[in-house]
Parts: sequence; C-alpha cells; structure tokens
Amino acid sequence: MSSGLRHLLVTGGAGFIGSTYARQLLEGNLVERLTVLDKLTYAGNPRNLDDLRPDPRFTFVQGDIADAGLVDRLAAEVDAIVNFAAESHVDRSIEAPEAFITTDVFGTYVLLEAARRHGHRRYLQVSTDEVYGQVDRGSSVETDPLVPRSPYAASKAAADLLVLAYHVTHGLPVVVTRASNTYGPYQYPEKVIPLFVTNAIDGTPLPLYGDGLQERDWLWVGDHCAAISAVLERGEPGSVYNIGGTSHLTNLELTRRLLAFLDQPLSLVRHVPDRPGHDRRYSVDDSRLRALGWRPTVEIGDGLARTVDWYRGHEDWWRPLKSGEYLDYYRRQYADRLSVGRAVE
Ligand code: NAD
Ligand code: TYD
Repeated sequence: MSSGLRHLLVTGGAGFIGSTYARQLLEGNLVERLTVLDKLTYAGNPRNLDDLRPDPRFTFVQGDIADAGLVDRLAAEVDAIVNFAAESHVDRSIEAPEAFITTDVFGTYVLLEAARRHGHRRYLQVSTDEVYGQVDRGSSVETDPLVPRSPYAASKAAADLLVLAYHVTHGLPVVVTRASNTYGPYQYPEKVIPLFVTNAIDGTPLPLYGDGLQERDWLWVGDHCAAISAVLERGEPGSVYNIGGTSHLTNLELTRRLLAFLDQPLSLVRHVPDRPGHDRRYSVDDSRLRALGWRPTVEIGDGLARTVDWYRGHEDWWRPLKSGEYLDYYRRQYADRLSVGRAVE
C-alpha cells in the first residue's frame, strides 16, 4: 500500500463487502498481512473467505469487535483498522435494534480505543449514505447534517460522530466513507437484490414495499472497495468521503430489470405494506472522493447481469442460507405482508 500500511485489521470481513475488500487487498498485493476479525453472525459466512485461507498473509479470527481484550491483542499487531463490522439490515433494526447499538455503536468505540492506545496510523470507518436520511431532491454533501430515520441509520450515524470526535479530541487519524446501496456477489439474501433474484429463481413472490417508487443509487461492490482503498491511502485525516453509485433506479424499475435478466414474469411481484419510516430516496455527491482519483467502473446493466449470473451459478452458496433462522425471519417479516399483497398493474 503506497501509504506504507503493511498489516491491516479488517473487521466484519466475512460479510458481503468486507470479504470482497479482503480479496481485493490480497489479489492486488496491497498489504503484507491481513487479519480479519468477524463474529460470524447470521450475516457472516466463513465460506466467503474460502479462497483466501491458503494465502500465508491471511489470518481469520472469529470474535466480537465489542470484546475489548481480544481487540486490544489484535490491534497491537496491526498498523490500521478498517471497520466493516455492523448489523446492517434496516428491517432487522426495526424489529430488534439492540444488536445495532452493541455492535455498530459500542463496538466502534472499542475499536477506536484500541486504535488510540496502539498509536495506529489510520482508522477507517465504513459508513453509509443512510446517515443523511432521505433526500427528496439533489445530493448530500459530507458537511450536511445527519438526520437518520431508522435505528440502523441512527446507529451508524452515532458511530460516525464518535469516530470524528476521536480525531478532534485525540488526534486519531480517522477517515469515514459513506457509500450508497451496494450490490454484487456474496450479498446475504435478505437485501433486496439477492432476495429478489433468489426468490425469482425459485418462482416465489417478490415482496415490493409500498408503491415501489423509492429510489436508490446502486454501487458495484468492487467499486465500493476500491473507493475504500483510495480513502485509506489518500484521504485527509478527520474527513468524510461519500461514495456514489452509477445509477438511480426506483425499486420497481430495478425489479423489472432483474426479472428481465431472469426471464421471469412481472406477476411474481407483490406490492406489500411498506417498511415503517421507509426512506424515499438517497443520493450522494461524491466529488470529494473523485478528487482522489476514484471513479466507478461497473455500469448498472453490466453489474446486474454479473450479479444475476453469480446467484444462478452459486446455488450451493445461497440455498443453505435460506433455512433455519432465515426462514423464521422471513415468516415474521413477510408472511402477513404477502397475505395482503397485490399484483403490479
Ligand atoms: P453484512 O451484514 O454482509 O456483513 C457484516 C459483517 O459483520 C458480517 O460478517 C458479520 O458477521 C460481522 N459482524 C456483525 N457484528 C459483529 C461484531 N459484533 N463483531 C465482529 N463482526 C461482526 O454487511 P455488508 O453489507 O457487507 O456491510 C458492511 C459495512 O458496510 C457495514 O458497516 C454497513 O453499514 C456498510 N454499508 C453497507 C452498504 C450496503 O449496501 N450493503 C452500503 C453502505 C455501507
Ligand atoms: P435494502 O436492500 O434493505 O437496502 P436499504 O434499505 O438499506 O436501502 O432495500 C433496498 C430498497 O428495496 C429499499 O427501498 C427497500 C426495498 N425493499 C423492498 O421493496 N422489499 C424488500 O423485501 C426489501 C428487503 C427491500
């Protein structure tokens, strides 16, 4: 890594984006050593890291970022922490918010304390555009107020503020990234794209919340990870960097495109009762990041095609996930909704 960071601690590296980042670091020879710390919650999957295990530069540790003793031991050996670890699903934060506070907020505090004690040269907090709240028009800039509207977004906003406070108070060289909705291979099938793709493969209903006209700006996971590397290497300490996607789509339009790739009918879609507090639209201005030289490289058409192909070709990855706790969650979240759902006109 040109910044001279040799050994990184990547937390939450068995999840969707963290595992892609870990792969990018090793494939790109960006680090000499990489330690992944992950609790392996329902969303963490050791299989996401299978291809990295034989690499002598790679170490996996199962554990909690809120475990101060463990974090301190690991932090003593690295130059910097990149924190992906989080409870990350809005719907679960509505149903059961406690874990969002213990991991997203308290866990971040534990990491910051360790980074400070060991004089780390960098701390990168992976955050989200959801901290800005819904944006009816235009795009959020990094100095905009934080107006989170879900317990998930509020827990991430609290963590962002704590991270930035450690820069001001303790001089910790922190950077924060706030990315838009990310998609690609290895995403747990509770998030809309893998949920809809895997349901459609099985010919089961796609539960579209409300009118389906909510808008997201989709970001390819590899581009998200490349942006994190750019900010880690060249970001200004104490600064926040938005990471935008390549196209704003309504959920209905996104669903139409996925079904077209899968050759499945629109009749699979059910309009179901909306998510409480559902943010209508997110959009970020990422000119600050682009000034560091980053650009997204994967257009939405190509990215969605690649994602659909990956889920089609990796049933052995996602089918085992759609069992046990997942099915209990699915029933709680969707059974009543689907029973009153209506077809798309
Ligand atoms: P994910 O749910 O797929 O992965 C989260 C990982 O964190 C899992 O491997 C899980 O086991 C681990 N984890 C959870 N609690 C932990 C704890 N207490 N200690 C250690 N590990 C723990 O999430 P993701 O989509 O890969 O998101 C990663 C990060 O990126 C999150 O911080 C999220 O807020 C942020 N983000 C996600 C998106 C998106 O669209 N997915 C967009 C912007 C930002
Ligand atoms: P999601 O993937 O949960 O990401 P986020 O809420 O963090 O943006 O949802 C993306 C969009 O898809 C969001 O507007 C909610 C919508 N959605 C549905 O319509 N139905 C679903 O079953 C899910 C999970 C999401």
